[in-house]
Amino acid sequence: ELEKALAAISSLQELEAQRVNFLGRKGHLAQIMSRLPELSPEERPAFGQAANAVKNKLTAMLEERRISMEQEKEAALLANFDATLPGRKPWQGSLHPITRAMEEVTSVFQNMGYQIVTGPEVDTDFHCFEALNMPPEHPARDMQDTLYIQDKVVLRTHTSTMQVRTMLKNKPPLAIIAPGKVYRRDSDLTHTPMFHQIEGLVVDKHITMADLRGTLTAFLQTVFGKQTKVRFRPSFFPFTEPSVEVDMSCTQCAGKGHLADGSPCRICKTTGWLEILGAGMVDPAVFESVGYDPKEITGFAFGLGVERIAMLKYGITDLRINFENDMRYLSQFTGA
Ligand code: PHE
Repeated sequence: ELEKALAAISSLQELEAQRVNFLGRKGHLAQIMSRLPELSPEERPAFGQAANAVKNKLTAMLEERRISMEQEKEAALLANFDATLPGRKPWQGSLHPITRAMEEVTSVFQNMGYQIVTGPEVDTDFHCFEALNMPPEHPARDMQDTLYIQDKVVLRTHTSTMQVRTMLKNKPPLAIIAPGKVYRRDSDLTHTPMFHQIEGLVVDKHITMADLRGTLTAFLQTVFGKQTKVRFRPSFFPFTEPSVEVDMSCTQCAGKGHLADGSPCRICKTTGWLEILGAGMVDPAVFESVGYDPKEITGFAFGLGVERIAMLKYGITDLRINFENDMRYLSQFTGA
């Protein structure tokens, strides 16, 4: 009976149906076996052996048919297979350009021996302002359009929170780099309410502004090339004194302010310089608020915008494209 059934089938599903039909829990063989109690004890062993032989035979037949069906299927596939057709490229994901820039920057500092630290995006007023020499009534708090979660709890407006968190937990010497998201109530062509910063902090005895200058110059020349020029301009941050704004020579016009054909450089607005980071020597008041002795310890800190680095590095002109998930943009960053 099985032989006849197998000759008639044409799919693996039908084959399985026949297996169930003959060998399944309610199949033909099981039905025969259920009549075992009707036999006398003397008849049972021979009956059992015969049933077992039948079962083995049926199993072998089913297996043989399965193999032959699979071979037929494969032969049919191969008959239609054109080995000259081009293959399909496997899908390959990629890092987001912002992530890539962040990893590039952090790896430069890692190679200089800095530790990477990360911390919460929701943080306290103390870590974000108060310990950074911005008491509640300090006018400098207006410089940052803060998003409040509740009284004294904010979305951090800068990664400088990690200066405070790191110093509260550790004793000098310290050399840390803190990448992460920051938030400000700001949204236009050149600002997004969430963006990325990387904070740097070095604290020890005898750290000077020369260390800051040498470190940032080495960093910028590693990321943007040996020819990059760096300049410091006086600036102000409540948590550094003195404070500087760091500029580097324009990546587009090599600091000339105009392109090879004489047309004005739009990247640096013809100045030849690009503002790239804020930095300075850690203010003694900050050391005091984390319990360090400013008479013994000095340090420098810097903060840079990752979107800006990515835009300059990869030649992006519209900041917002980083947040639109447009595959035409993102897929250009595969493999690199
Ligand atoms: N936190 C500053 C900002 O967000 C940048 C900065 C960091 C300046 C560290 C000096 C030192 O603008």
